[in-house]
Amino acid sequence: MAPIDPHSFADDDEPMTEHVSLSLYLDFSRSVIRGTAVVTLSRPHAGRITLDARALEIAAVVRPDGGAPIPFELSYPPDPIKGQALSVNLTSPSSAFVIAFSTSPSSTALQWLTPAQTSTKALPFVYTQCQAIHARSVFPCQDTPSARIRYSARLNIPEPLSAAMAAARVRRRAPILGEAAPGCPDAAWCAAGRAVEEFHMVQPVPPYLFAFAAGEIRRREVGPRSCVYAEGTAETVAAAAAEFAGVEDMIVAGEALFGEYQWERFDLLVLPPSFPYGGMENPRMTFLTPTVIRGDGSGAQVVAHELAHSWTGNLITNKTNNDFWLNEGFTTYAERRIVEVVQGKERAALNMGIGWRGLNKEMERFKNRMEFTKLKTNQEGVDPDEIYSEVPYEKGFHFLWRIEREIGRFEFDIFLKKYIEKFKFQSVDTETFVEFLKDNVPGIEKRVDIETWVHGTGIPADAKEPESALYTKIVAMAERFNHPELAAVAEWQGQEWELYLENLPRPLQPSQVVDLDTCFGLAESKDWEVKVAFLDLAISSGCEQYLGMVEKALKEVGRMKYLRPLYSALLRGPCQDQGKILAHRVFAEARDSYHPIAQGVVQSILSKHL
Ligand code: BES
Ligand code: ZN
Repeated sequence: MAPIDPHSFADDDEPMTEHVSLSLYLDFSRSVIRGTAVVTLSRPHAGRITLDARALEIAAVVRPDGGAPIPFELSYPPDPIKGQALSVNLTSPSSAFVIAFSTSPSSTALQWLTPAQTSTKALPFVYTQCQAIHARSVFPCQDTPSARIRYSARLNIPEPLSAAMAAARVRRRAPILGEAAPGCPDAAWCAAGRAVEEFHMVQPVPPYLFAFAAGEIRRREVGPRSCVYAEGTAETVAAAAAEFAGVEDMIVAGEALFGEYQWERFDLLVLPPSFPYGGMENPRMTFLTPTVIRGDGSGAQVVAHELAHSWTGNLITNKTNNDFWLNEGFTTYAERRIVEVVQGKERAALNMGIGWRGLNKEMERFKNRMEFTKLKTNQEGVDPDEIYSEVPYEKGFHFLWRIEREIGRFEFDIFLKKYIEKFKFQSVDTETFVEFLKDNVPGIEKRVDIETWVHGTGIPADAKEPESALYTKIVAMAERFNHPELAAVAEWQGQEWELYLENLPRPLQPSQVVDLDTCFGLAESKDWEVKVAFLDLAISSGCEQYLGMVEKALKEVGRMKYLRPLYSALLRGPCQDQGKILAHRVFAEARDSYHPIAQGVVQSILSKHL
């Protein structure tokens, strides 16, 4: 009788779900899904079985054979972080039951876009973002990454739309009478103008990797096992396809480093600009923000990262969010190894430099909450979206790099392959990794202070500042505020600009900021990293003339990497009063266009500066 995960009501005495079969009716007019879930357990069970739910209505729980009702209960009031426990009381030994449920418009995983909010303006769009703990707001489940579930799904959508899913497509067909009972009446399911798309996921995956989108989606092939899908016109898809032309080279590089690619396909789905992350590693189909399409192939880093999760994260999964570094630290390490192969050592080193800077900034952010500067964290009572940071990514990367430097890359590569082979399709915790490391690299604990790396706060003394000639040069230029020469910056990509702008002494004279913009067109940059780094600098330097552009930017994108610094700069910057009023007004106006996760994060930034 103990919870297995601080973010889930699932209980270790109860069997885990092995398979779920979902029938989902997407009701765009009401922004809800009506669905049924046939849950199959790993063994027959009598008594209570506890699932997670958030903002769900449960219409009934019934037996799969004959539909006799099964008693159930939803805990009340909802826990602000975990949501509600759905306790199903299996009165006789059973290994399957059916839940009829519906989502609500306040589901935290789903964003429903009206036609006006899409790029073609013609049809509505919906998509999911389930990591960290939002799958439970789409369907009731044991929403912990320690669970691994196979599933099948039937999405009932309006005929003009198509569906995409992080699973294998089976077929598109007409709805069949009776197939969705008891959750959704046949009259709706089989109404004229509806179509059903079927998918299945045969490999067991943690629930946070459940993902779909539906809308006006087009696709284009970019490699032997990759297509780009995008919401929008044929031009949008063409631009995306050009950006990701190198994807097969990356997969090949990944396989050479980490072993065979296990997911058959690696497709990319480019979402509307409100997508709250840069990328999300949904299996077989990575979800991406359109802001990575810059026309110069620099979106490759995000793709390398999400691809790397195919081994680290999706094959081997963190057991709970306390071990989140096992997902993101390993993936950051793997991403940089792939980048090194396809873009060269200098680019990988620059990324390491940028990451190092980010890690040091996080130490400042968490100086009063040092728990979250540890690799192994205790997230009891903590919302994972609230403490999301670069620490698991960059400190995790540095821990692995430290081990690599100690035993040499040749040995470390052998170790990594062995680790992946041993634990593939399993969810593991930090202790399991450390034990495996000690068993396979005897004596490692005498050479690397594993205890301090895993359980200590801050950045360990034996972490090494990455060396990148380009990084050092740009930072030095910025710190002395050397105006970049046109010739020197001709080759600069977004990352170089970002690094330069972020390292300029603050505040600058407003005239210096304007001068930079006049020379290099930074505020109008097509590269969002550059635009946001510049606008952040402008706000911090009190340049009121840029507030209009800040407002425009905050209404155009919903990627949290951009929302966080811009809202924070408005609240903290020298034009504080004006900034504060602007931040609150813009949020009130833009809120509905953000994904619910981003809404929550911005809300919490604003409430800290009341
Ligand atoms: N899995 C993460 C995104 C995520 C983390 C979503 C936690 C929800 C909760 C993804 O792989 C990621 O790290 N994306 C980065 C990409 C970057 C590191 C290249 C992002 O979105 O910025
Ligand atoms: Zn990641």
